Amino acid sequence: MRTTSIAPSEHMRRRARVLGALKGAAAVVFAGGATRPLLGTWLADANFRYLTGLEDEPEAAVFFDPSAEDERRRIVLFLKPLDREAERWDGYREELGSSLRARTGFRTVMRTPSLPALLTDAARRAKRLACLHPCAVYDAAVSPDLAVYRKVAERVPGVAIEDRTELLKDLRARKSPAELALMRRAIAATAEGYRAVFGMLRPGVSELEIRQALETAYHRHGVERLAFNTIVGAGLNGTVLHYAANKAVVEAGDLVVIDSGASFGGYCADVTRTLPVSGRFTKEQRRFYEIVLAAQRAAIAAARPGVHMWRVDEAARAVIEKAGCGDAFIHGVGHQLGLATHDATPGGPLVPGMVVTIEPGIYFPDRGLGIRIEDDVLIGRAGNRVLSSAIPKSIEDIESAMRKARAARGGHV
Ligand code: GLY
Ligand code: MN
Ligand code: MN
Repeated sequence: MRTTSIAPSEHMRRRARVLGALKGAAAVVFAGGATRPLLGTWLADANFRYLTGLEDEPEAAVFFDPSAEDERRRIVLFLKPLDREAERWDGYREELGSSLRARTGFRTVMRTPSLPALLTDAARRAKRLACLHPCAVYDAAVSPDLAVYRKVAERVPGVAIEDRTELLKDLRARKSPAELALMRRAIAATAEGYRAVFGMLRPGVSELEIRQALETAYHRHGVERLAFNTIVGAGLNGTVLHYAANKAVVEAGDLVVIDSGASFGGYCADVTRTLPVSGRFTKEQRRFYEIVLAAQRAAIAAARPGVHMWRVDEAARAVIEKAGCGDAFIHGVGHQLGLATHDATPGGPLVPGMVVTIEPGIYFPDRGLGIRIEDDVLIGRAGNRVLSSAIPKSIEDIESAMRKARAARGGHV
């Protein structure tokens, strides 16, 4: 059982807040089903991780039953039954007992075959079931809680199903000091990755080698996972937003778009820098880079408590449109960041404690030129703080960092 670095007491406080906010309705948050371990690391649903810190318990669930007479059964962790033969393939799992309860902070832990009976009983008492998972769009599979509640409602007369999908989005969006400490560690490791790139970037290295330099530095700084698949695209490849091949060799005169982030203790970083392969921006690159940088600075200045994210987008877009490049800014200005790279997005304006990315970009496939600049920004009580400011961003700082790196390599380019 792998857990995030947040203390069990903080997870207990989160669950207690959800229990209170449900105002008597019962609810379940599911971890989700597993993929086979050989096909990549499986990670539990972010809402489940937020409530439990458990990352690798497929099919587990947290059950909220506010009207249970036995107060020890108002919040229950369900884990799938032990299967000794499967464990020889997938890893050994723990028996129920006091050490598991202490480590997770749950007073009651049961096996998943007991969940249908407990949930049905709760529905008979409460007559209300609350959806906490995000609603699925209509052409996707129904969200896991709604799918189960529909079955319950077919069997228990008079059960109402409520939309409470904003609840966990709101809680997750306001980061606690412990969460912010983990995000700062993820961003610090990401900065080390970029430092490694400044030390090796030159014509003739491949996008893959740049990716490896980033990821090796992350792992050296204690990172277990990437926040997302690293994007390294030079020239035309830098105009592809989610470029994944990372195979080309970078050439003198190219700009390379690097969008990367470490994940630490379950929390993500997400930073983009656009760097000149030969160490200096050309005149044309400089002109477009300054437009994106000015747009990003305008957006960061706009990102204050009480302001909606669409206003932040507008601030960046106004700068880019004024420079005549509006059609080249083809994505939104940013997103919430946390347990997921594209984290839960509550409605309403920015509030203190949120961490958002600010990442305007312009892309010209016909010129083989893409530029994006992305920072991670903590909304404070009055303004904000750029958490990723240690990574060089202005033309002067980037060129100076590359000059120093080249000198350290003994003048080789
Ligand atoms: N790295 C994905 C994004 O910036 O949204
Ligand atoms: Mn990014
Ligand atoms: Mn991003």
